[in-house]
Amino acid sequence: MKLKFNSDGKFKILLFGDIHEYYDYETSPNFKDMQKLMNAALDEYKPDLCVLLGDNCSSEHIADKPEDFKKMVEALVKPITSRGIPVASVLGNHEHDYGHEDEVVAIYNSFENVIMRNDAPAEITGNANFKELIYSSDGEKPVFCLWFIDSNNCHENRDISHYDYVHTDQIEWFEKECKKLKEMNGGKPMPSFIFQHTPVPEEYELLRKAHFWELPIAKRGFNSHSKTLYVGKKGTEGYVGEGPCSPDVNNGQFASWKKVGGILGAFFGHDHLNDFSGYHDGIFMAQHKTAGFRAYTDGCRTCVRLVTIDEKNPEKFTHELKRFKEFGLKCECLSPIFRTISDRQSLLLHIAGYAAAGLAGAGTLTFAIIKLIEYFGGK
Ligand SMILES: [Fe+2]
Ligand SMILES: [Fe+2]
Repeated sequence: MKLKFNSDGKFKILLFGDIHEYYDYETSPNFKDMQKLMNAALDEYKPDLCVLLGDNCSSEHIADKPEDFKKMVEALVKPITSRGIPVASVLGNHEHDYGHEDEVVAIYNSFENVIMRNDAPAEITGNANFKELIYSSDGEKPVFCLWFIDSNNCHENRDISHYDYVHTDQIEWFEKECKKLKEMNGGKPMPSFIFQHTPVPEEYELLRKAHFWELPIAKRGFNSHSKTLYVGKKGTEGYVGEGPCSPDVNNGQFASWKKVGGILGAFFGHDHLNDFSGYHDGIFMAQHKTAGFRAYTDGCRTCVRLVTIDEKNPEKFTHELKRFKEFGLKCECLSPIFRTISDRQSLLLHIAGYAAAGLAGAGTLTFAIIKLIEYFGGK
């Protein structure tokens, strides 16, 4: 399959985070709602490529019933592939859960127009590290690279890190491949995006410690960041719904992007409530919340993101988020209150929930003291 820029010089990528489908998809109302979002987004945006950001389908019974898993993946990608649009996917931590990663990759790769494979030598960590090149609109030469990196599962030693990171051998393989691309590109780093499931620790650089008056909307950091409550910092767009669940160890992946050059943006799944984005040290990073309704979510805020690259000016790529209700869709799988309230009402409800929790506990004073301890304890 050869990806190439259109005659207007554009290439559109539609992103879906953490769909988390399960074997009951045929009767599942949340699968129907997810498909409504997928169909509406495909009709409106007509992308050139879709990307699934991992944790797509449970591989729980793949060893006993590989055909069932294959049917589930087929049902998931059908709205995309039936339109003749290619779809690439990374592996999420939950695709690693049952130890059948190679079977998962082989099943995805068995479908026409579905891209998931391992380009790295077998001894390199991970089961699906690969890249796809986008060719110029005349089809003559590759001008942009899309990297799909396997961010692995949880760390084998939770005292070191809850989630695993992209290992040193993966980073070395990536750097070697980037060197080849640079040679192919006349000595200049090829403009590139990274797609992977688990975010890099630098995502926290898009956040800052919350001021006291921001505590109702602040979110506690994850694991090694749990002493601090965060909000998006100036320049960060979108919603911070939870502390980013990145690895507790920084293994130098972001530094490697800076070293090789040309990495314009990185797109992550994994955190089902976050859809914030921004620049850190010249590299755009975007977090994708779930595009489904199966796993934990915040209701109709579920969304997709469109990224548009301009062949002539790749550094000026654009992106936009669109939520379920903004497509004019009606949700059937959620409880009535989450079906009907707006995003703004949902946020206000969240703030009210904090206040009510404080009042219902040991009173407003205790609530304020707890928040003060949380705030100052986070230094
Ligand atoms: Fe997930
Ligand atoms: Fe995940």
